[in-house]
Amino acid sequence: MSMKVAIRYQSRGGHVKEMAEIVSEGTGVEAISIDDPRAPITEPVDVLFIGGALYAFKLDPGMEEYIRNIPAELVGKAVTFGSSALTRRPVFLLQEQLRNKGISVHPSAVYMRGKPKPYLHEIMPTWAAREVRNIEKEFAEAAAEDEAAALPEESEHTEE
Ligand SMILES: Cc1cc2nc3c(=O)[nH]c(=O)nc-3n(C[C@H](O)[C@H](O)[C@H](O)COP(=O)(O)O)c2cc1C
Repeated sequence: MSMKVAIRYQSRGGHVKEMAEIVSEGTGVEAISIDDPRAPITEPVDVLFIGGALYAFKLDPGMEEYIRNIPAELVGKAVTFGSSALTRRPVFLLQEQLRNKGISVHPSAVYMRGKPKPYLHEIMPTWAAREVRNIEKEFAEAAAEDEAAALPEESEHTEE
């Protein structure tokens, strides 16, 4: 299975944009701002990396609207990343709003205070590539379970 990956981000000051570009480096997929005309998800994606920041305790209103408009059925799994001055709240808010849409959220996420530190450029591309592989494995296991569940009862297969 070849995984279809997309990267979307919202960034006022460039910090989250820099993180999105690191994800791009790790996955070979272009990072697209939610303000770009190409931003809407119109075709199925297996993995959607989505990043945002915190402004006055909230996500940018444009990001909230963007999430509201994602067709949930087109997204296999969302992977979040974010930045703020103080707390992981942007990641929590992204995850919460995605889940409220019915989009499955991957547990692994990257949070950075302020501007990405040099070490993030070292570790985050590998993180992004690894999580795509992990999700691919997860999908393959789920498909195998579905197949097994469809087998007749007298077969050799044992359920746990
Ligand atoms: C108008 C404004 C409001 C902000 N409010 C918060 C906040 O409530 N809590 C916080 O931790 N950081 C806050 N920040 C800091 C940003 O979340 C942080 O600088 C982040 O890295 C910005 O990402 P960006 O450069 O991609 O826009 C605020 C920044 C701005 C410009």
